[in-house]
Amino acid sequence: MSTNKESDPSYKTSELAFFGEQYGGQQYNPVGFRLRLTRDVKLLLEEFGGTRPRRLLSVGCGQGEFELMMAPHVDEVVALDLSPEAIEIARANARKRGVSNVSYICQPFEELEWEGRFDVIVCVAFLHHVPVEQMNGFLAQCYGHLEKGGLLYSSDPNINGVLRKIGRVVLGRNYDQYHTPDERELDSGELCDDLHSAGFASVSIRYTDFFLIPASYVLARWPGFVMQAIALVDRVLCGLPVPIASQASTFAAISRK
Ligand SMILES: C[S@@+](CC[C@H](N)C(=O)[O-])C[C@H]1O[C@@H](n2cnc3c(N)ncnc32)[C@H](O)[C@@H]1O
Repeated sequence: MSTNKESDPSYKTSELAFFGEQYGGQQYNPVGFRLRLTRDVKLLLEEFGGTRPRRLLSVGCGQGEFELMMAPHVDEVVALDLSPEAIEIARANARKRGVSNVSYICQPFEELEWEGRFDVIVCVAFLHHVPVEQMNGFLAQCYGHLEKGGLLYSSDPNINGVLRKIGRVVLGRNYDQYHTPDERELDSGELCDDLHSAGFASVSIRYTDFFLIPASYVLARWPGFVMQAIALVDRVLCGLPVPIASQASTFAAISRK
């Protein structure tokens, strides 16, 4: 599972250019960024129910922070991303923190040579980068490479998010600077259908934030306590009944084989 694509600059040019720039400079609030990942880690750990998974695969790991947070809770993490800049940061951070059970691979998911099975597959802020025509194949591959009872955890922008609708109107064209041309927001109902079609026995949707992710970009240099207050507001809003919570900006899908 280790074909190296660091030397292939022509691949997925726009994704590479966008994330190269992102990972090259700090474009988001560091406290907001960490709070977002802490929330995803917490949701995922709740699903482990006290057991210790053996192997975790992360697709679209970016600079690998989520994977470092998960490292103490699993035996082995394999994480891949298209961006050489992201993988370089991820490997340096793992070295700096003395984490030895995470390996980072620079490779597009389309070229992943799936080897063996995993107890957990995570796609944090990644599924919405998978082209529509490849989504069913990718989900089927995830299903096929999970152990029985294994988990697929994903977290993605919600096409029905009220703040996203407002953002598109208020920011107009500027809204596009916050995402790559290839990505798209996802509909939780459609993703549920796709996950069931791939074979997953159960899928549950959790709405996770209204403001934290957008604020992490827009308020990149604001103090951390503002991000903490925003995360608190999000927790309250996401805990409200579904007709309100489903207007969130981001949702997680937790699927079990
Ligand atoms: C929104 S970022 C999420 C990064 C990280 N998981 C996080 O939550 O911070 C999406 C990541 O997907 C990666 N990506 C996009 N297309 C990819 C592909 N075809 N194969 C592998 N990674 C890809 C990008 O390089 C980027 O790092």
